[in-house]
Amino acid sequence: MSVNTVPTQRVGEKIWTIVVAAGSGTRFGSPKQFELINERRVVDWAVETARASSDGVVVVLPAAQAQREGGVVGGSTRSASVRCGLAAVPSDATIICVHDAARPFASEFLFHEVVDAVCAGADGAVPGLPVVDTIKFISSDNVVISTPDRSQIVAVQTPQAFRANVLRVAHSSNPESTDDATLVETNGGRVLIVHGDPLNRKLTTPEDLNWARAITRGEV
Ligand code: C5P
Repeated sequence: MSVNTVPTQRVGEKIWTIVVAAGSGTRFGSPKQFELINERRVVDWAVETARASSDGVVVVLPAAQAQREGGVVGGSTRSASVRCGLAAVPSDATIICVHDAARPFASEFLFHEVVDAVCAGADGAVPGLPVVDTIKFISSDNVVISTPDRSQIVAVQTPQAFRANVLRVAHSSNPESTDDATLVETNGGRVLIVHGDPLNRKLTTPEDLNWARAITRGEV
């Protein structure tokens, strides 16, 4: 008989996920999170997996959509939107994941990987992939300043999981960053990297959306 039990390390944890979907899609040209992939919106793919992987989900949306769908209204930056979401997460949540709606193919396995790392003692855990290109630090006038050692670099994804109080403290001074792990690291938190997933690609350009549609049609 198969019994659906909570893995031992997650017993006593209350896991909530904030899905941030309030961006305006500047690089894409329109709010990409509302484009369709196989008859479901990009945001709905992300929210469905978040729901299956968490005890509760807060979806952060632009004002018009939030009014129609009942989500939380976002802010003018990603970090501000995360804070709008944080305000709606119940105070008894012990682990909070933050996930970009623009990543429709994050798996439940990936959610569990980052959550388990936090259950095991990390302040935060984020998926990372090795970078294949050589990376350069450059000046504002495009002069190369230096070349970091590629073997010490990963490209990080969401979902990112955090011990709830650590994430709340990291956001308490209203800081800005392109992800939440940066804020936790800056506050001295220990953030672990787990194996990222190449399928968990962030949809940034119309080509990315075409790729996502092709994946669901089995063409890639
Ligand atoms: O494109 P960018 O990296 O800024 O967006 C990552 C995620 O953050 C997207 O899912 C986007 O909808 C969300 N976001 C947001 N509020 C903003 C800007 C971005 O929820 N003001």
